[in-house]
Amino acid sequence: MPKALKSELRLAGRMSRLGTETAFEVLERARALERQGKKVIHLEIGEPDFSTPENIVNAGVDALRKGYTHYGPSAGFPELRQAIAEEVSRSRKVQVTSDEVVVVPGGKPIIFFTLLALADTGDEVIHPNPGFPIYESMIRYVGAQPVPIRLREDRGFTFDVEELESLISGRTRLIILNSPQNPTGGVLDKQDIRDIARVIGDRDIMVLSDEIYCRLIFEGEHYSIMTEPDFKDRTILLDGFSKTYAMTGWRMGYGVMRPDLAKQMTRLMTNSNSCTASFTQMAGVEAIRGDQSAVEKMRLEFQHRRDAFVAGLNKIKGFSCLLPKGAFYVFPNITATGWKSKPLADALLDQAGVACLSGTSFGEFGEGYLRFSVANSLENLNDALGRIDEWTKRNL
Ligand SMILES: Cc1ncc(COP(=O)(O)O)c(C=O)c1O
Repeated sequence: MPKALKSELRLAGRMSRLGTETAFEVLERARALERQGKKVIHLEIGEPDFSTPENIVNAGVDALRKGYTHYGPSAGFPELRQAIAEEVSRSRKVQVTSDEVVVVPGGKPIIFFTLLALADTGDEVIHPNPGFPIYESMIRYVGAQPVPIRLREDRGFTFDVEELESLISGRTRLIILNSPQNPTGGVLDKQDIRDIARVIGDRDIMVLSDEIYCRLIFEGEHYSIMTEPDFKDRTILLDGFSKTYAMTGWRMGYGVMRPDLAKQMTRLMTNSNSCTASFTQMAGVEAIRGDQSAVEKMRLEFQHRRDAFVAGLNKIKGFSCLLPKGAFYVFPNITATGWKSKPLADALLDQAGVACLSGTSFGEFGEGYLRFSVANSLENLNDALGRIDEWTKRNL
């Protein structure tokens, strides 16, 4: 108990079920090392290192000057919901209307709200593992039961649909899909999605399809389960602005879902955030309707860095790395080093000054892997490769 406090803090029981996102903790540790004068290369955090494109920043500043400094509607401004509906209709080839769109502060609230709205105590939720850690954290927090499905390196980090079928039970309420995927960079192609849709069949199971990296694909095309016949009403599509437009700090994302569920999510917004920041939403309209060339430029730069970093990792003793098809992460297999993931990630930070994440930060099936974000300059990525190589030569 902290000294100045006279009584023990009595937390609600559910707080013990809340997990975390290790990236923020590693970032803190890395910053502490920097304060001691050590140089650290940051490959731990999942955010574009680019600035938000100028036209979007200008739209946000304009909106502030025009007085978008007040509350707005809980589900988002009609013009932004309309822009999103048109964009999703076009990109997912399915008719979406603005009453099916809920704008929220970032992609994360859609994960939380979906679980709050749909999963009762004891309901089962199938989620990818290794996967974004917030899924399991939130599933547990709402009292539901997480059911991990293993992503397999030999399948390009997708899962086996027969395994999915074996995990579905009478209690399965929700299946979470994420493509392109964090942390592996795996992508579900059209055939994978069709196979998943076939296995789910006409069961009364909802799908949360996290497509926040959909514009960051290096091979093939993005395909959403929402496009599949009969799946529109059972899909909650999560997308946003953080990764596509380098807008992580603006806090804006959205969900697309059947209108009756959209009403319920809007009630959750009213009860929690009231609304997403008004000027941010005006910047969002510009992001969607304005010039898209910055998005393509960033994508090509990430591809270039991915190629260089993966090629470099594959030359390092004990590392072997698939070329990820999407997102801005690489996920090398490090079992041949003889080290477990967590001690290796710690040693690379403490002894080589390279901050990365242990695969186990993304669930038990992440053992044997590390995650590096390539959202850093080529110069820093090359520096990191040199440091890791040197470390392995000294220690393996
Ligand atoms: C798979 C996945 N979904 C959702 C999010 C949340 O994004 P936001 O910052 O918009 O809340 C992230 C962020 O890292 C992510 O990797």
